[in-house]
Amino acid sequence: MTTILVTGANGQLGSCIRDIAPTCEGLSFVFTTKEVFDISNKQLVQDYFSNKNFDYCINAAAYTNVEQAEKDAENAFRINAEGAKNLAEACATNSIILIHISTDYVFNGEKESPYTETDATDPINVYGASKLKGEQYVQEACAQHFILRTSWVYSQYGHNFLKTILKHAKAGNPLSITTEQTGAPTNANDLAAVTVALIKKNRQEFGVYHFSNEGKATWYDFAHEILTQHSQLTTTNLAKTEHYPTFAKRPKNSVLDTGKAIKVLGIETKDWKERLRSVMSILETT
Ligand SMILES: NC(=O)c1ccc[n+]([C@@H]2O[C@H](COP(=O)([O-])OP(=O)(O)OC[C@H]3O[C@@H](n4cnc5c(N)ncnc54)[C@H](OP(=O)(O)O)[C@@H]3O)[C@@H](O)[C@H]2O)c1
Repeated sequence: MTTILVTGANGQLGSCIRDIAPTCEGLSFVFTTKEVFDISNKQLVQDYFSNKNFDYCINAAAYTNVEQAEKDAENAFRINAEGAKNLAEACATNSIILIHISTDYVFNGEKESPYTETDATDPINVYGASKLKGEQYVQEACAQHFILRTSWVYSQYGHNFLKTILKHAKAGNPLSITTEQTGAPTNANDLAAVTVALIKKNRQEFGVYHFSNEGKATWYDFAHEILTQHSQLTTTNLAKTEHYPTFAKRPKNSVLDTGKAIKVLGIETKDWKERLRSVMSILETT
């Protein structure tokens, strides 16, 4: 039996992994939330790992509020950087493979084509900087690691852009959505499946990989597609805005090139609009 610790298990990714866990023969998951397993508590992390036997740790825990992070850098770094470091050190000590999730926001967004794993990082907001520091700690402390950078994550769980758009559209509110940034919306269920596939296939090609759904969109395109796919909503109240003021700067282009993950890890990625449909149907029937 392969044993896997999942941190941050009440988040989007953690919840999607919970959904597929029962179908994973030969894999035994332990799901932990921040209430019982705070990754930023170094002593707790060390004690926990030395008392239990895990083969893998999936770090789905993170401080993900990009806006809030600008005013709360200390906590963003405590969780995204120090938390990742604590896990990486404990994984290294106990010969555990760490699957750590990172972000497209490690890039500055100035590149005009999709970012590859070898492109220079240069975060332009606190969240991105804290996640980059986390990556660096993981690389330094734990040789057996996968860092999966992903982008624009949404799902049927938690807080995300998709749910915000649906909430406002259902309330009949006008929606003014920016065309200033381009990225790739990613269904968290797919990210969960890829993460678990690394374990099932016992992949050993450690390193940094990019994973997102295929294609690209602006936030406006994403909102437009959400409303178009919904059976009872329309795009009537949706308008484009070039600039939407935010505390955090956002990369203009953060599309990730997923070629390495496809080639080296043998993973698949599907068109973002098709994968959006799957979450839309879950939300429309629940
Ligand atoms: N969401 C995106 O658009 C996006 C884009 C690119 C990359 N990513 C990355 O993808 C990964 C998964 O994101 P997600 O959307 O699933 O995030 P999420 O829904 O915000 O889930 C993160 C979970 O971590 C928990 N957590 C926070 N601090 C913790 C701590 N100290 N110890 C243990 N758990 C803690 C959170 O609990 P509370 O909610 O109670 O604080 C939450 O349940 C993250 O690494 C994120 O940086 C996300």
